[in-house]
Amino acid sequence: MSDAIQHVLVPGTFDPITYGHMDVVRRARRICPHVTVAVAESLGKNGVGTTFSLEERVALAREALDGLDGVDVLPFTGLLVDFAREVDAQGVVKGLRAMTDFEYELQQADLNYRLNPRLESMFVMSAPEYGYLSSSVVRQLASMGGDVSDFVPACVTEALHERFM
Ligand code: PNS
Repeated sequence: MSDAIQHVLVPGTFDPITYGHMDVVRRARRICPHVTVAVAESLGKNGVGTTFSLEERVALAREALDGLDGVDVLPFTGLLVDFAREVDAQGVVKGLRAMTDFEYELQQADLNYRLNPRLESMFVMSAPEYGYLSSSVVRQLASMGGDVSDFVPACVTEALHERFM
């Protein structure tokens, strides 16, 4: 079917990328041949700056996802709907961990729908073992000297170690 979705974005701040994000990317790739991990410039959810720069977040995501066929990683600034148009993506895939995610994601999806009803928002349920996992939890743990190696790939553990050393 010519209208079928061939390219989706998995957008986020990825500050930094975690095993939870990587699980969502793999799931997105199972349902779509081309996945672009779209790393937002993002000032953070509360207007606070990110721990890693946009370039660093892109580099870490690229390293973490290296070798995954059909998956690429690109930075973007501005609106997600504009970036989707720019790279000709027809859908957006995000992971849901809990009802609290749902409220936020529904609002984002509704807004994106108002901006471009042709851009399909889709959701995958995060694997239960990652239900508690978030970039902010990982950052907090790392900043207090905790071991994050069960939650993020080695390149991210190293980068966090350097950042909070
Ligand atoms: O990792 P996050 O914080 O859940 O990612 C949120 C993100 C970056 C996907 C979302 O904030 C986003 O799409 N930002 C780009 C700007 C935009 O299009 N916002 C929605 C309409 S105001």
